[in-house]
Amino acid sequence: MDAMNKSLVEQQFGAHAAAYATSTVHAKGASLGRLVELVRPQASWQALDIATGAGHTAAAFAPHVARVIASDLTAEMLEEAGKLATAKGYANMETARADAEALPFEDARFDLVTCRIAAHHFPDVPTFVAEVWRVLKAGGIFALVDNISPDAESTPGFAGPALRDAAVTYNAFEKIRDPSHGRCLGMAEWSEQLGDIGFEVTHKERLPKDMEFEPWATRMGCDAATITRLRSMLTDGTPALQAFLRPREEAGKLWFTLDEAIVIARKPA
Ligand SMILES: C[S@@+](CC[C@H](N)C(=O)[O-])C[C@H]1O[C@@H](n2cnc3c(N)ncnc32)[C@H](O)[C@@H]1O
Repeated sequence: MDAMNKSLVEQQFGAHAAAYATSTVHAKGASLGRLVELVRPQASWQALDIATGAGHTAAAFAPHVARVIASDLTAEMLEEAGKLATAKGYANMETARADAEALPFEDARFDLVTCRIAAHHFPDVPTFVAEVWRVLKAGGIFALVDNISPDAESTPGFAGPALRDAAVTYNAFEKIRDPSHGRCLGMAEWSEQLGDIGFEVTHKERLPKDMEFEPWATRMGCDAATITRLRSMLTDGTPALQAFLRPREEAGKLWFTLDEAIVIARKPA
C-alpha cells in the first residue's frame, strides 16, 4: 500500500512537474515568505527541504543559509528544482533524491528541516516525523506547512461527527483530483504528532489560500467528467464542508479556500 502510494506520487508528479514549477500557489504562495520570516534562518545553517517539488521552498531559504539540500522522491521534480537553482544563481542549493520516510542523511546533520505542501502524500506521518527528528541537530528547527483537514480548531461551530464527515469528504475530494493524495491531518493532530516524539511547538498558525477551481483541477490532469464530479462535491457539500472550503463564484469563476497550517517546532537542545 505504501509502495503503491509512492509510485503513484512519482507518476503524478513526474507527469506534472512543469506545472508545479510555474504554479502561483507553489511559487509565490503567502506561506513561503511567512515561513522565512518565522524561522529567521542563520547564515551558518545547513538546511534540508523535504519533498521540495520544483524547489520553491529551498530557493526561498537559499539566500539566508550556508547550504540547502532540495530533496524529493520524484526525479522530474528534482530536475525542475535544479533548473530553479541555476536560474536564480544559488550555488549553495543542491538536489538529492530522498524518501521523506527514509532520509538518506546521517543523524543530527541539519539546523533546519522544511517541508511545505507535501506531507499529505506521505503514507506514514509518524515515520516521517521521526526521520525529521533524527536528521536535526539538538536545538534544530522543523518548519512544516501543509493543507489541513477540518477539525474543531479550524472550523468552529460544528460538532464531532459533522467535522469527521467533512474531513473524510475533503480528503476524498483531494484524492479524486490527485490519486497520490494520502490524507491531510487536522491542525490539532499536527501538534500531537510533533509533541509525541518530543518536539516543542513554538508557533502555529492557519493561512487561508484562495484557489481558483479550474486551474487547481487541471494542474493534476483531471478529465472533464472528474472536473464535473469535483465541482459538484465542492458546491453541494454539507454545511461543515462548505464552512471549511468556502466555495463561491467570482466573475463567473468558481473559487474555494484551502487552509494551510504553518507549524514551527524545535528539537530541544
Ligand atoms: C506539491 S509538491 C511540493 C511543493 C513544494 N514543497 C513547494 O513548496 O513548492 C509535493 C511533492 O511531494 C513529493 N513527495 C510525495 N511523497 C514523497 C515522499 N514520500 N518523499 C519525498 N517526496 C515526496 C512529490 O514528488 C512532489 O514533488
